[in-house]
Amino acid sequence: MHNEMMEKIVSLCKRRGFIFQGSEIYGGLSGIWDYGPLGVELKKNIKELWWKSVVYQRTDIYGLDSAILMHPRVWKASGHLENFVDEWVDCKGCKKRFKVEEVERERCPECGGELTCSRHFNLMFKTSSPGAVEDEQNLFLRPETAQGIFVNFANILDTFHPKLPFGIAQIGKAFRNEITTRNFTFRTREFEQMEIEYFTKPEDAERWYEYWIKERLDWYIRWGIRKENLRVRTHQKEELAHYAQACADIEYKFPFGWKELEGIANRQDFDLREHSKESEEDLRYFDEKRNISLFPYIIEPSAGVERSLLAFLVDAYHEEEIKGRKRVVLRLHKALAPVKVAILPLLRNRKEVVEMAKRVRDLLLGDFVLRYDDTASIGKLYRRQDEIGTPYCITVDVQSLEDRKVTVRERDTMLQERVSIDQVKEYLQERLKC
Ligand code: GAP
Repeated sequence: MHNEMMEKIVSLCKRRGFIFQGSEIYGGLSGIWDYGPLGVELKKNIKELWWKSVVYQRTDIYGLDSAILMHPRVWKASGHLENFVDEWVDCKGCKKRFKVEEVERERCPECGGELTCSRHFNLMFKTSSPGAVEDEQNLFLRPETAQGIFVNFANILDTFHPKLPFGIAQIGKAFRNEITTRNFTFRTREFEQMEIEYFTKPEDAERWYEYWIKERLDWYIRWGIRKENLRVRTHQKEELAHYAQACADIEYKFPFGWKELEGIANRQDFDLREHSKESEEDLRYFDEKRNISLFPYIIEPSAGVERSLLAFLVDAYHEEEIKGRKRVVLRLHKALAPVKVAILPLLRNRKEVVEMAKRVRDLLLGDFVLRYDDTASIGKLYRRQDEIGTPYCITVDVQSLEDRKVTVRERDTMLQERVSIDQVKEYLQERLKC
């Protein structure tokens, strides 16, 4: 990856504890990443904001957490056994491997060398369960969370009796045996998806498809991604997945080019129809008004947690010059920032100042994700917090001992305000509210 911006992001992620190479002490595992103390908070915040917007702030979407392992016949019905394949070629010169669609003019994109003939490969991860009955021995790790929703469709109908249109949302791990995993965490073998399957009357599907494209685009903008770095790209007919009638990608302008963040597909009634056939269970919806049973159409907004995280990081990364010195600041939305408040004693060798700073820390502990740091000079401490996107830094100084006030510094403006210790919790709560 020869991209200066990406190198800075990768370095920051490792240095500050966002993202580490998976199994690093054993030389790493390609396409696998571990999320450190800051990465896990950022991931959690992304998932919470998504869940809040699609489940808590609506009345028509139900949450679900289905299993990663599913009956092997699910993948037959879904078409994944037959169709979830990638085609790849190897370079005879540099030995690198590429997906066929990454190659132009039938030469190696890296060294221009000759390529081998293409080969097919199913992207599902196989696993097995020796104790199970024969039919269940060969299992797959799910390549999308969507199928868990379809196989629970009847359960939701029977327990909640929703009327069309309604949706089912879930967040969970998915696994794909990706042939190539370039560009840091963009394409990985293990990742999390945030998926909604939105069930509509067939005649309303197009309208809901347009609705969800707009809704999801607005979500990224709402949480801080700059409009000009997002676009919607409609799939050509030949690009469509086997189940889709239409699909649009929300793309982000990554340093390595415009790439998919999320796909919104009109899956028609493909999935419910196929699972009905394979399972011999009737997965139709009964429309009481019209007195007919029908297979609803499905609109599917499907987003990747790690891809969103990478886009939020890249978009938030800023370098600026302050009084002749470089400042790196992650301008993450406050709701996304992994650490909300940092408490920094101005004089780490002055016992009373340190003690008071610790008392302020204890006062705020449990109400905010916070960091206490007294391991460097104040300039360095501020720089550390700016680099991880902490919205507020609190400093305790000698004057604090007398007036029981602290200095609160805001990340983006760097404006400082003296706030009474008695009021600092409410002060922060007010400003961090969203
Ligand atoms: N259920 C539909 C579905 O899975 P997809 O376009 O294959 O559609 C949806 O995946 C989203 O999941 C993508 O837009 C992307 O954000 C994320 N995703 C897919 N494959 C990924 C991978 N190998 N690594 C990281 N994220 C991935």
